[in-house]
Amino acid sequence: MTRIALFLLTIFLSAACSPGVPTDTSQPPGWDAQIAAPAAVDVDPSEGTVEVHLEAKLAQLELRPGVTTTVWTYNGQVPGPVIRAKKGQRLRVVLTNHLPEPTTIHWHGVRVPASMDGTPSAQAPVMPGETFTYSFMLLDAGTYWYHPHISSPGQVGAGLYGALIIEDPGERFFGDELVLVLSDISLEDDGSLSAPDAGGWFGDYFGREGDVKLVNGRVRPVVQGRVRQPQRWRMINASRSRVYKLQLPGVSWVRIAGDGGLIDRPQTGSFVLLSPGERAEIMLSPGGEEGARIDVLSLDADRFHTGTPMPPEPLFTLALTAPSPKEPLPLITEPLRTVEAIDTTQAPTRTIELMEKSLDGVGVLGINGKTTSESEPFDVKVNDTEVWELTNTTPYDHPFHLHGFFFQVLDSDGVPPAAREWKDTIIVGPKKHIRVAIHFDDRPGMWMFHCHILDHADLGMMAMFHVLP
Ligand code: C2O
Ligand code: CU
Ligand code: CU
Repeated sequence: MTRIALFLLTIFLSAACSPGVPTDTSQPPGWDAQIAAPAAVDVDPSEGTVEVHLEAKLAQLELRPGVTTTVWTYNGQVPGPVIRAKKGQRLRVVLTNHLPEPTTIHWHGVRVPASMDGTPSAQAPVMPGETFTYSFMLLDAGTYWYHPHISSPGQVGAGLYGALIIEDPGERFFGDELVLVLSDISLEDDGSLSAPDAGGWFGDYFGREGDVKLVNGRVRPVVQGRVRQPQRWRMINASRSRVYKLQLPGVSWVRIAGDGGLIDRPQTGSFVLLSPGERAEIMLSPGGEEGARIDVLSLDADRFHTGTPMPPEPLFTLALTAPSPKEPLPLITEPLRTVEAIDTTQAPTRTIELMEKSLDGVGVLGINGKTTSESEPFDVKVNDTEVWELTNTTPYDHPFHLHGFFFQVLDSDGVPPAAREWKDTIIVGPKKHIRVAIHFDDRPGMWMFHCHILDHADLGMMAMFHVLP
């Protein structure tokens, strides 16, 4: 076979094998063309494996209209390509580092073996010019994401993040699907990236929020939708510090999934709250007239509890087109799946205090009295179940994130959650007491937990635990 024929065959096979986005084609042609992030190419022709090549490299992109910025990217794009695979498949990702500094990839929320977690305890950093292959089975359907786990405030802040969608082929159809990676970036007047440590200690302590808000790497993009035709939005907060509180005026929606796949029954609410690292999936049905433009609003989540939030800002727009000739699907009201409760009858409780203190005259953040470098990992055993009581003695919100294992929220200040679901990230407000249940399944090794305001993790709010075989 000639080289060109072989090349064409490879393209054909990869196109034939990449999992399709679920659609019933009820939306207008090109409905998501202005907003969707490009999909990753699966280069493995076998049914059991999805293989994706990611090249971490600098690229010039126009993020703020009219100016070019040199950003840090996977495959030249921000966000990186959307990786889609199915539960039960193996994912192989070949990472090549063409950045000016070492990097790794962490698979946020995914139950990987400890050696694939992308943290400094899991692997040696991938040096510039080097390649590293991540390979693991996909155990749980849901909306996940990937990002570096060394120098993460700088690297994530510069554009390194992307979505990982794990589909459950048995799941029902909720609407035409759109993945929304929410992030922000700090740019100087000339369009260059602000320094990762801009603002010094204040930047670390408060957590740097970018001045340009991005939806799939774009400023105020537009998605089209037919009146009353449902869409399924998979939303990921990939910002280094910003908490989103989204309002969809004129749109009926229910939340159907959280961090780790479908929740037990659909939830209604007046806004979608997403702290850094968290995900939410909603099924929505836009009302209104053909031609109407609905701005999705970003409300100030007031994570500093100032009591005087900033005014809402439009984040992206839903443009309504003529209703579908088909009968629209109603928003789901029935139960979505059974989420078995973790049995906590024998479980000991461990207190996790998110706190601040002064160290050599400088304010630092920590967990249980210690900054990251002062703390010693604690031990748990495979098959243990524990209740962790998360508390926050600082005056600001902190999104607590656990690596490797999901948790279930038992209660927040004694109040049980409205839905049962699998989570890996949860915002803990000042003086809150949130009890979560964790079952450590058979994946021994060193794991971490931290505040997902990445500047806070760097300032000491990160700790480790060891799951013993
Ligand atoms: Cu998404 Cu340790 O992080
Ligand atoms: Cu993580
Ligand atoms: Cu924090």
